[in-house]
Amino acid sequence: MKGNRLSPEEKMKMIQEQNQRIKENMKKVKYKILVLSGKGGVGKTTVAVNLSVALQKEGYKTGILDVDIHGPNVPKMLGMEREKLIMEGGRIIPPEWNKGLKVISMAFLLQGKDTPVIWRGPLKASVIRQFLADVEWGELDFLVVDSPPGTGDEPLSILQLIPQTDIAIVVTTPQDVALLDSRKAVRFARELGVKKIGLIENMRGFICPHCGKEIYLFKKGGGERSAKELGIEFLGYLPLDVSVVECGDEGIPVILREGRVKEKMIEIIKRVEEWLN
Ligand SMILES: Nc1ncnc2c1ncn2[C@@H]1O[C@H](COP(=O)(O)OP(=O)(O)O)[C@@H](O)[C@H]1O
Ligand SMILES: [Mg+2]
Repeated sequence: MKGNRLSPEEKMKMIQEQNQRIKENMKKVKYKILVLSGKGGVGKTTVAVNLSVALQKEGYKTGILDVDIHGPNVPKMLGMEREKLIMEGGRIIPPEWNKGLKVISMAFLLQGKDTPVIWRGPLKASVIRQFLADVEWGELDFLVVDSPPGTGDEPLSILQLIPQTDIAIVVTTPQDVALLDSRKAVRFARELGVKKIGLIENMRGFICPHCGKEIYLFKKGGGERSAKELGIEFLGYLPLDVSVVECGDEGIPVILREGRVKEKMIEIIKRVEEWLN
């Protein structure tokens, strides 16, 4: 690798230049939102994708950055699995969903959709740095960052590289084990200096398609109580609904489909907008 042949001074200079590019790129983004969680499979990517789509549909210039290096699902949920990254004049041009939402994901760099990424922390940090420094994000109202579960290298890199992250949204399901882990995510964001931290309770109730009764598979209200205890904003909840799974698998943002999930998602987005103003 060429990088290995650089002298320490040259390496330092390269990093400084990259930091400068990150600064300049991020200066053009009005609001940065990081989506994180304590556990996997709680709905981070679902929230990040639908939030981004809703913002773009409302006319905001929006980008979504998928830093889940090991499980980059954003392209799948947007039906963009075949997209590839294009370089122009040393800059990375992000593919767009619906001619407007800029999307960057590790998935665009992988050879096949089953290719695992076996990388250690420093390498992950370096690809994230590149996504922030060298992608042509342009002027954006919102950059939504989707992370892998937990408080590891990826969200850490983001909060260190974008210290002015405006909002951290912690997604959790309502049962105790998930709540316990989500507290760690809240503390993590707080310790890294994020001023506004919000919580979304996902998979709250399930409407039985046969009897119409609501069943609370993962209990109910735990996220709301947790938010109160932790002194953070409760942004709302999403029901457990088959349409979320179907849409996610088909690459259609569920917010585009009429129903209860869309209604609740819109309530959440309104709260986020009010909160920012
Ligand atoms: N409210 C919901 N109702 C039903 N299924 C959901 C809901 N939220 C997420 N899912 C499904 O759960 C799985 C994990 O969601 P995902 O957003 O990928 O979570 P994460 O990014 O936290 O790992 C996906 O198949 C998704 O479609
Ligand atoms: Mg995910």
